[in-house]
Amino acid sequence: MQRLKSFYTRMELNLFSDELCSRQFTRLRETPTAEMSFKEYTEKIGEMTEDAQIYLANFGAHRPGISREEVVDHYTNWAKTYDEDLCNSGRYHGPKIAADAVAEEFPVGRDSVKILDIGAGTGNFGKEAYKHGFRELHGIDPSAGMLERCQEKNIYKKLLCDFFERDTPDLENDEYDCTVVAGTMGEGHLTCDCLYEMIRVVKPGGLVVIVMRKEYLDYVEEYKDRLEPLMDQLEAERKWQKLGKKIVPNYSFTKEGVLYKFRRE
Ligand SMILES: C[S@@+](CC[C@H](N)C(=O)[O-])C[C@H]1O[C@@H](n2cnc3c(N)ncnc32)[C@H](O)[C@@H]1O
Repeated sequence: MQRLKSFYTRMELNLFSDELCSRQFTRLRETPTAEMSFKEYTEKIGEMTEDAQIYLANFGAHRPGISREEVVDHYTNWAKTYDEDLCNSGRYHGPKIAADAVAEEFPVGRDSVKILDIGAGTGNFGKEAYKHGFRELHGIDPSAGMLERCQEKNIYKKLLCDFFERDTPDLENDEYDCTVVAGTMGEGHLTCDCLYEMIRVVKPGGLVVIVMRKEYLDYVEEYKDRLEPLMDQLEAERKWQKLGKKIVPNYSFTKEGVLYKFRRE
């Protein structure tokens, strides 16, 4: 009954209408690597399943050439069922992977560690971090709809409705012990330039954690041959030190993720 109700709600939002899915599918075809990735996924689970439809809905927020305003609209429309579709259904594990990675670096005194969650969305990183004992959680996200759902969880002490970009207003230099990115990398999402901003807002000695879908390094133009070279350049310039890079299995839709940890110099 619950399943039927949520499916109906989604139909009302038109997120999973046949027409929209077929439009996303056409867009997917414009990106050969993304199409191959979808095929690999649907070979396991079938093209017409709910899993495949949700994969396409997620792709709708990552389609080639999407503007950052379109990204925000997509998430705002999706906010109502985002948790159920991605996080509670086991299709996406980014928030837990990120929270476990942060907890590893802060074994004690977690209740006073000040963390900025970049692209906080509906607050699933906060939910996982809270279980580890973190309490000083702040979030930033440009989608008011996603933040509304986040607010309901009552976990974050401060939420900013804005894009995270170079010189984001309302974010001070050296303000945080840790910045976290879970699932906020992708077409039309954070730009490479945002690495500078993560370094600006984190304290010297503070931690930057990023987890993202690994294949985006291969076909998102913004990141291909740019993101990792910039990470290395920032290390060569002694802006930060790389503590580790790890491939994580089953990050989202059974795809691998990549997890980076840096310590600000
Ligand atoms: C896939 S969701 C991830 C949400 C949450 N971090 C999670 O793991 O469930 C991506 C989020 O990034 C946000 N986002 C996109 N571009 C952004 C930007 N430039 N600055 C901050 N957030 C952004 C979107 O609004 C959306 O809520």
